[in-house]
Amino acid sequence: EKIGHGQASGKIILMGEHSVVYGEPAIAFPFQETYISTKVEPDSTMILECHYFSGELSQVPSQLKSVSEVIDQTLIALHHEEATLKITITSTIPAERGMGSSAAVAVSIVRALFDYFDIPCTSESLLPLVNRAEKIAHGNPSGIDAAATTGDEPLFFIKSHPLESFPMNVSNAFLIVADTGIKGQTRAAVRDVAHLFELDKKRISQHITTLGHLTKSAKHAILADEVDTLGNVMNQAQEHLSALTVSNEQLDHLVSTARANGALGAKLTGGGRGGCMIALAGSKKQAENIAVALESAGAVATWIQSLGVKN
Ligand code: PMV
Repeated sequence: EKIGHGQASGKIILMGEHSVVYGEPAIAFPFQETYISTKVEPDSTMILECHYFSGELSQVPSQLKSVSEVIDQTLIALHHEEATLKITITSTIPAERGMGSSAAVAVSIVRALFDYFDIPCTSESLLPLVNRAEKIAHGNPSGIDAAATTGDEPLFFIKSHPLESFPMNVSNAFLIVADTGIKGQTRAAVRDVAHLFELDKKRISQHITTLGHLTKSAKHAILADEVDTLGNVMNQAQEHLSALTVSNEQLDHLVSTARANGALGAKLTGGGRGGCMIALAGSKKQAENIAVALESAGAVATWIQSLGVKN
């Protein structure tokens, strides 16, 4: 019996969330500690099995609208609209935590369906399908989640530009990712920033431009192997993200806990208002200490990833 498989990793935005929606650059990388897998097999009707739902695809609740959309659109693209399949999704990416789970779900589904029908899945066919699902999930996505969950290299990403990967190779640099345990609110946060922008273009565009400059400084710091500078620009970015109203009390608390425990820099990551924060440490030992402190301060989960050769 025929079976199709597809996989996609989570992603972390190091710098540039929100400002990326306005054309500024962002730095993101695949976060291989977490991933989503999709399995496709024949069935008598279209069935979806996942953590939130099990049953006929036509009966999915509204939160899974983007999932049913990506399945429908992919089958249309493959000229197999009439297929009846069972699609099983398993995930270790916490949902709605700014780790790109919605994009990763879509990427893994598209890959699994292409695999099932034995058609090679190029990024030219993959990205438009994923971005379309992201529009339903997020409203006005920059495309960074789709791009970052597709590949296995760090990206210097600018909306609507060709993808540019770059080497993330900083000696003695470890990133701690901590989950507040609160659902992130990417859609609402992106909408509220747009609203603020309309109300006070001058002030808001200054924050956005500065976030863009900080992202470029982060890129230079990474290429020059300057971990302290990278930490410093992360700290500055957090101030501007707060001014855009996308941080919240729990994120602020974890950010100050990380700094008080020796982090070289700390900020929210992804959409904000919950979800995850990241902190930079100069050694594995320090990263472990910070992770423990963050868990005592209320983080429900932490991960550590090296920013050195081969993440
Ligand atoms: O919360 P996430 O992981 O979906 O990240 C969203 C990143 C934003 O810049 C806030 C939105 C976007 O589409 O780029």
